[in-house]
Amino acid sequence: MKKIFDKDSVVVVTGASSGMGEEIALACARQGATVVLIGRNPQHLDYVARKIVASGGRPVFSVADVSKRSDLESVASRIATEHKKIDLLVNAAGVGLLGKIEDTPEQDARRIFDVNYFGILNSVQVFLPLLQKGKNATVVNIASVVGKVGWPGMGVYAASKAAVCSLTDALRIEFKKYGIRIVLVCPGYTKTNFLKNCIQINTHKDEKLLGGGMLPFDVAIAILKGVSRGKKEIIIGNVKEKIILTAYHYCRPVADFLLQKVAG
Ligand SMILES: NC(=O)c1ccc[n+]([C@@H]2O[C@H](COP(=O)([O-])OP(=O)(O)OC[C@H]3O[C@@H](n4cnc5c(N)ncnc54)[C@H](OP(=O)(O)O)[C@@H]3O)[C@@H](O)[C@H]2O)c1
Repeated sequence: MKKIFDKDSVVVVTGASSGMGEEIALACARQGATVVLIGRNPQHLDYVARKIVASGGRPVFSVADVSKRSDLESVASRIATEHKKIDLLVNAAGVGLLGKIEDTPEQDARRIFDVNYFGILNSVQVFLPLLQKGKNATVVNIASVVGKVGWPGMGVYAASKAAVCSLTDALRIEFKKYGIRIVLVCPGYTKTNFLKNCIQINTHKDEKLLGGGMLPFDVAIAILKGVSRGKKEIIIGNVKEKIILTAYHYCRPVADFLLQKVAG
């Protein structure tokens, strides 16, 4: 992979305490960047920071809930003092929800939007002044394959990711005048702590039931490769997910049939 960072680069990753965010943070640190790790769990952040130090990198960690703007404002003022700028912002923090739309309590639906949608809105708004000082600054927003097509059995979560897709498309045009590049990432099922951390309503799915799944390391490398090649959108999924996406665009009845099968 082409090296995109050096020792002067500053990378900020939300959701860096686990899964894709953790692997992206590790990969950026290996290239020499200072990496600011954001998440809510200090023990998990400390664990990732230690891994980065062990591989010769320079991590900083900040405990923050992305759904709380004031938490991100505190992180931003620390970065402004200590690092002055952001070159890459990766918005990976997110939480899943499995369950039928009709069964989902309003407060759970609101929590999903608070983290997945408002978390990214807060992040891009609060970090904008630091991104404007960055070198070829880039924002990577992690949505999902299910943000591209409403997925039965996870409709509320899919809607939050559809909102991220739409926000990201608009940002790409709006931030052009600042020279800030925007990249939308839509991964398919990946073996992280996502399922363990998911809100599950009247259902119980575990890894054995879903099977397959990409490794977060492979997804992280595919994302950074896409960024280094100047991609605007990166969709990474398994064959089943790709067939459904293609059918959704070219033949809705086939997509509906396949989605019905997925929902069971
Ligand atoms: N795994 C999949 O199959 C899959 C597929 C498509 C898209 N995605 C998306 O990919 C992203 C990464 O998920 P993952 O698979 O790596 O799951 P994960 O292992 O559960 O990681 C989620 C990360 O988000 C952080 N987080 C959750 N709520 C937060 C909040 N309110 N404030 C700050 N950080 C928060 C968690 O840290 P703390 O607990 O420390 O806060 C954790 O670091 C998410 O946006 C997810 O929706 C996942």
